[in-house]
This record gives sequence, C-alpha cells and structure tokens, in this order.
Amino acid sequence: MTQQLDQILCTQARIIDGRDFAETLRKSVALGARAFREKHGKAPGLAVVLVGQDPASQVYVKTKMKKALESGIDSFPHLLDSSTSQAELLQLIDKLNNDRYVHGILVQLPLPAHIDESKVITAIDPAKDVDGFHPINVGLLTQGKASLVPCTPLGCLMMLKDQLGNLSGKKAVVVGRSNIVGKPMANLLLQENCTVTIVHSRTQDLNNECRQADILVVAMGKAEFIKAEAIKPGAIVIDVGINRVEKDGRSMLVGDVDFAAVSSVAAAVTPVPGGVGPMTVACLMRNTLIAADAIESDKAHRYE
Ligand code: GUN
Repeated sequence: MTQQLDQILCTQARIIDGRDFAETLRKSVALGARAFREKHGKAPGLAVVLVGQDPASQVYVKTKMKKALESGIDSFPHLLDSSTSQAELLQLIDKLNNDRYVHGILVQLPLPAHIDESKVITAIDPAKDVDGFHPINVGLLTQGKASLVPCTPLGCLMMLKDQLGNLSGKKAVVVGRSNIVGKPMANLLLQENCTVTIVHSRTQDLNNECRQADILVVAMGKAEFIKAEAIKPGAIVIDVGINRVEKDGRSMLVGDVDFAAVSSVAAAVTPVPGGVGPMTVACLMRNTLIAADAIESDKAHRYE
C-alpha cells in the first residue's frame, strides 16, 4: 500500500492498471466459458503441472488455478515431487494430450535441472499449448498466423494497443531476448507494423538504443535497471520484471524499471506489482478458451 502511494505521489506518467484491464478480460472470458459450457456440456479445462517446490512457481500456479475458477474454467492441478523423472512427466503429458476434459496444458517453468524443458514443451499437443511455447506455435507466430500466443507478450500488446490504438510505424525496443517474453514480444510488435529492435546483455550503449523507443518493453530480470536516461520523453514503458528486493528493511517486489525515475519522463508506465502480471494470467484464461473452442469445433491445427 505504501509502495503504491509512493508510486502515485512521484508520478507524472499515467499508471497503466493491469489489474483493472485483466479483470475486464477475465469477465469476457467468463462469458465465453459459459457459452462454451452450454454448447458442449463441459467447461473449458486447464491442466496445471508443477514439478518441485519453487516458492515463486507455487504462488504463480496457485494464482492461475484461482483465476481459472473465477473465469469459469475447470483446472486440473498436477503438483509433482521434484524427484519426478522426465519419463514420468512425459507420460503425464501424453495422458493430458488425450484427456477430452483438458483443453489447455500449462507446465510451469523452470523445471528441475534433470528434466529437458524443450523435450517436455515439444511433447505437448500444439492445440493444447496455451503457453504458445511449442515450436509449431512459435513458427506460426513468426509467420503471423498464431492463435496460441505466449501469455506475457500478449498481455503487453493488449495494454499497448489500449494506450496507443494503432501501433503502426512506432519504434519499439524490447529489452531481453528470452523465448518466453523477448522474442515473441518482438514478433507481435513486428506484426503490428512497428519498427522493432531487440537489445540484450551484449548490446553496446543500451541506454541510447532504448532512448529511440516510442514503446519500450523491458524483460531483462534486473531490479530497477532501466533509469530515466534510457527513456524518450512521452514513451510508453511496459515493465515485465518481477524482482524481490530488500528496501528499508522490508522485502518488496520491484520491476526491471526504476518506476519513480522513469515516470518523470515517460507518458505511461506499468507498475510492479499490478501491471503485466495480472494480464499474463488473464491471457492464459483467454488462450484456454480459444484452445477449447478450436478443439471442440474441430478447428484446431492438428499435426499428427
Ligand atoms: N514461468 C515464468 N513465466 C512462465 C509462463 O508464462 N509460463 C510457464 N509455463 N512458466 C513460466
């Protein structure tokens, strides 16, 4: 609460309210889920798989299941011990691929070191890949044909369109090149006819690159790394980072962007918490409904 008050008092930029936006999106998913249930006699179903006891992952998974319930989506938790073998996990994925009550499969990342993440992602039926991480869905996204798009970049794009309307011709800079956020974000912005630059840990003069951006999306995993000097006046800044830090003897969450400093230059900024995070979860519900509709109406891409 104090953190939010601090943010408001030193802000000139608009605060982009991800919680509010996510609630609106979830309500529309809930309406779609109700229509789906009436048509098909079952709810859209989301299997949520967690291997191990990583505390942050446990929180994310719990939130995803709670929000699924609020969106009229059945969730099927599979909370597995960290000693689960890769073969056992692949066996579970196979079972979920063939379960007619499951339309979406989410395997929370990261997985324990003894499991090959890429093997697991590739084993998920692309039609049920609500994370949009399967190589087939990644390929479709790069061709501009995707329906199951990674949730975090999709949420970022929705907020950007809400702020700016048409993104065509805007200069967009994405900080970070991960498969989960940076790369799909760049592809989505390209699809919107932005001029897109990806910068990363090896980029020379990162601040100068960022300062060219009308749209700056930051997903680098470094607490409050982006300062005012990296911001073009009037830019829209989307902060994907979630970092736990100690401040004044208190543990708190901050983004990859120095919110107070950046707010004095940007036109609009997402806060942490309450920005991108809630949109990621709402987009997961949206993807589950889309996957369910496609599967039950036999319109899902099938690649057997
Ligand atoms: N871990 C961090 N972000 C994500 C995400 O979007 N999906 C999954 N499955 N795991 C994650």
